[in-house]
Amino acid sequence: MKKQLPFVFSNFAMTADGKIAFASGNFVPFSSARDREHMMELRATADAVMCGARTIETTGTILGNSGEKFRKLRLKHGLAEFPLRVIVSGSGSINPAAKIFRKRFSPIVVLTAARISKMNLKNLRAVADEVKICGKTEINFPSALRWLREKWNVRRLLCEGGGELHSALIRADLLDELHLTVCPKIFGGRNAPTIADGKGFFQLADAAQFKLKSIRRIENESFAVFSRKK
Ligand SMILES: NC(=O)c1ccc[n+]([C@@H]2O[C@H](COP(=O)([O-])OP(=O)(O)OC[C@H]3O[C@@H](n4cnc5c(N)ncnc54)[C@H](OP(=O)(O)O)[C@@H]3O)[C@@H](O)[C@H]2O)c1
Repeated sequence: MKKQLPFVFSNFAMTADGKIAFASGNFVPFSSARDREHMMELRATADAVMCGARTIETTGTILGNSGEKFRKLRLKHGLAEFPLRVIVSGSGSINPAAKIFRKRFSPIVVLTAARISKMNLKNLRAVADEVKICGKTEINFPSALRWLREKWNVRRLLCEGGGELHSALIRADLLDELHLTVCPKIFGGRNAPTIADGKGFFQLADAAQFKLKSIRRIENESFAVFSRKK
């Protein structure tokens, strides 16, 4: 029987000029309180939340559920109290002293590649619940996601960035749904991160195709949902 993939969805806050952070990479929450609540609502529908190494380090996120309200929401959705936490770090460069590793409310899985050094592997094995090697130099996401479904029973996987990880999921044609909050700010900067950095596509015919599923305005922000065009 063909092994199944989880449903993969992502969520980002983006400026009107398409940036998700300043060019310096410095993290400053820039969306409204409503958007941050929206992020927790979405997280409360996911079995697992996944981030790239740089997002974990720059934002200091612990990928929790932000308190009782969202814990109850998760239980209402038939999910575990806290999401499984998945960190992607192909070279294993994620700092083992990052705050997330000190918060033990739910398991942490690190997805890495065979190029990881012995030292990084040893350090990460000491702080994560599981370090999974999937792929030689880059993560083989189809097989990593199938493994997450099989081993950790992940049916809904939420990617919360950053742009490099998100881009890899899109290139592998694994992103089912994108939740995008557009905020009325302009950061500018040629090197400021966007929702899909990494290699990118070079021809219109190859571009990832989505359709607009819904859009609503709440005060000064628009909340859009795009689904993959099959
Ligand atoms: N506004 C928002 O909603 C939002 C959301 C999230 C993040 N952000 C911002 O985005 C920025 C971080 O994004 P980013 O694109 O620089 O980094 P990122 O995607 O969070 O992390 C990049 C790292 O993840 C690993 N990785 C990603 N794709 C991989 C692949 N295909 N194979 C192997 N490893 C892979 C690599 O780790 P190794 O180096 O260990 O190989 C890579 O260096 C921060 O400034 C953050 O504040 C904003």
